[in-house]
Amino acid sequence: MANDSHVRESLKAVLVPATKRSIVDMNLVRDISTSNNTVKITLASTALMPETRDLIKSKVQDIVEALPDVHTANIEYTDAKAKDLNNIDHIIAVMSGKGGVGKSLVSSLLAIALRRQGYEVGILDADITGPSIPKMFGLSARPSGHDSAILPVPSKSGIEVMSINLLLPTEDDAVIWRGPLIGNTIKQFGEDVLWGRLHYLIVDLPPGTADAPLTLMQSFPISGVIVVFTPQDLVEMIVRKAVNMARKMEKRVLGVVENMSYLYVPEIDKRMEIFGPSRGEEMARATNAPLLAQLPIDPLLARLCDEGNIESYDDEVVARMGEALVNVLSSADKL
Ligand SMILES: Nc1ncnc2c1ncn2[C@@H]1O[C@H](COP(=O)(O)OP(=O)(O)O)[C@@H](O)[C@H]1O
Ligand SMILES: [Mg+2]
Repeated sequence: MANDSHVRESLKAVLVPATKRSIVDMNLVRDISTSNNTVKITLASTALMPETRDLIKSKVQDIVEALPDVHTANIEYTDAKAKDLNNIDHIIAVMSGKGGVGKSLVSSLLAIALRRQGYEVGILDADITGPSIPKMFGLSARPSGHDSAILPVPSKSGIEVMSINLLLPTEDDAVIWRGPLIGNTIKQFGEDVLWGRLHYLIVDLPPGTADAPLTLMQSFPISGVIVVFTPQDLVEMIVRKAVNMARKMEKRVLGVVENMSYLYVPEIDKRMEIFGPSRGEEMARATNAPLLAQLPIDPLLARLCDEGNIESYDDEVVARMGEALVNVLSSADKL
């Protein structure tokens, strides 16, 4: 007789169409019970359109009734809130002192690095003042959803992406939000997106230290903050903002990333510090957090971002940044 874990294992073959992930990975399987030759399965209907529910139900039925010694599979749906189904190991907020330093780019590269290591990864583009993540990944599909719960959109490499930009009628619609609305929208994001089971969720915060990040912290159990800066930035100003924000959230700075650190010129085999000498070590000392990476100015990277192909960027600096982050979090877990 198939036991509950066999049944659960078999359900990994049933995908939620919009996300390309299984109903097990999306945490939609709420209960399995077997008695005699009957299996009873309770699924959450969260974010699923009625026709998707029917489709999933019949797939589950086929698969489970094909298991050894199972005669009947009874499948029921139950209501559940997205936030009650989300099971995320690490939520990492990415911040910067000001706009334009590469915060979205670093958020994306972190997600890409973690995904390449085999983790289940999501990105929440919470910078609703300049949502740019979908463009870098070449995404424009509207998220599907039902009854106020929405599903993220998968990228080419299977990173789950949610951004206000994906919800707007056209990509170029300007978003002019007033403070309270920003806070509410982010809070709603926090509660209504069904991420399911993720190892890492990277959150691209609005620049600076408005109230929005704090609202976000109230709806998300954040693990910590990563600070992005460039050699041009005033160290004291960023440190003050970052440390202030982390303190208000009662979280720590997990690491710092210097972007546009240098330009490598192959003809002369030299690194040119275009924006001035590196501030990496200084920033790491001042925030008491490790320097996770010093990213070069790379015209290829800029081009891939414009083309929506950031996932094709395959420099070892990205892999090392991802490994450094995983190390920081695993040593934090041991404390
Ligand atoms: N290291 C880099 N090399 C090349 N271009 C970069 C780099 N960092 C950022 N850029 C360019 O700058 C633009 C703005 O970066 P972005 O991450 O959107 O900034 P922010 O989110 O901080 O406002 C990107 O679209 C990209 O074209
Ligand atoms: Mg940005």
